Amino acid sequence: MKFLSSLLVLAGSAEAALRFGCATLSIQRIDPLVQPGHVPSAHLHQIVGGNAFNASMDPKDGDIADRATCTSCTFSEDFSNYWTAVMFFKHSNGSYKRVPIMQNGALPNGINGGMTVYYTQQDFSSNGNQKITAFKPGFRMLVGSSAATSKQGKGLKFVCLADKGTRFPELDDFPTSPCKGGIMTVHHFPACWDGKNLDSPDHQSHMYNTVNDAFQNSGPCPSSHPVRVPQVAYETLWDTTQFNSMWPSGGANPFVLSYGDNQGYGTHADYVFGWKGDALQRAMDSSCMFTACENGRPLKSQAVAQMNKCQVKSQVGENIDGWLPNLPGMEGM
Ligand SMILES: *[C@@H]1O[C@H](CO)[C@@H](O)[C@H](O)[C@H]1NC(C)=O
Ligand SMILES: *[C@@H]1O[C@H](CO)[C@@H](O)[C@H](O)[C@H]1NC(C)=O
Repeated sequence: MKFLSSLLVLAGSAEAALRFGCATLSIQRIDPLVQPGHVPSAHLHQIVGGNAFNASMDPKDGDIADRATCTSCTFSEDFSNYWTAVMFFKHSNGSYKRVPIMQNGALPNGINGGMTVYYTQQDFSSNGNQKITAFKPGFRMLVGSSAATSKQGKGLKFVCLADKGTRFPELDDFPTSPCKGGIMTVHHFPACWDGKNLDSPDHQSHMYNTVNDAFQNSGPCPSSHPVRVPQVAYETLWDTTQFNSMWPSGGANPFVLSYGDNQGYGTHADYVFGWKGDALQRAMDSSCMFTACENGRPLKSQAVAQMNKCQVKSQVGENIDGWLPNLPGMEGM
């Protein structure tokens, strides 16, 4: 009997994959990972997740899963924070306007902006019978670099949407002509951990990236970073359509990320772990997929109205909407 049940585990019962929506928690110039304590930070971000998000999030101040009182994400025990740069349209007259964020397809209706978050195993729907180890309290990481001026490896992509279901082709940089259904940015994080450090000075070297594009199988973890953690990915959908009529005729891409990048090679994303207790480990050890993980099987979940209600006020107090003479924080550039 004992032999049989361990055989069943090996036969791959743990094939969990989480895909869920998170509403916008805040859009402001704060970056507790790269510029802790700075109000404002250098450039604008959209942040989703738990409301313990702040300019300084030192693990010494306590576990954010204990300090947060709400989350903008579907799973009500997930107080993690997820953030990326924000997209702007640059008019040929030099003015900028922030591109609205729209919810993804295949999510419940009514989510306010935000992004779609994935925690997958070896690939989109299977784990290759490997143990996936959940992150620990205090864990954080960064993928990509706002300073990059050439392609940075796999998993950091742009998709020119015909509609919300478009997924291919994945581009390394901004689309070069107007997209009928908007633009999606995709960020896949590395999934191999050194097993020791919750963070590293560059927020990257405690991790090793074996990711392949488009949720394909990732490669094996190297001995330097032997622990396979969940494959985290973000999708953000930007409603660029209202700007398509203002696309300069025969001109270059008019969209720009909030740190002044109109090519897209500097696309980057940040993650701070904040799941309550062993919730994420229980999910990764289960065999649930997407919405089947909700309603306590095994994860507690909440309604869209609750997600939208969880917000963090900007501490910066600057105008980020309307036609702006410069990107927030980028005067004279
Ligand atoms: C953010 O930090 C400031 C300064 O330490 C503090 O006053 C504020 O309550 C914090 N906000 C949250 C949501 O924790
Ligand atoms: C640029 O064009 C937009 C859209 O027509 C307009 O609202 C904005 O005021 C213009 N900016 C300048 C500096 O003329």
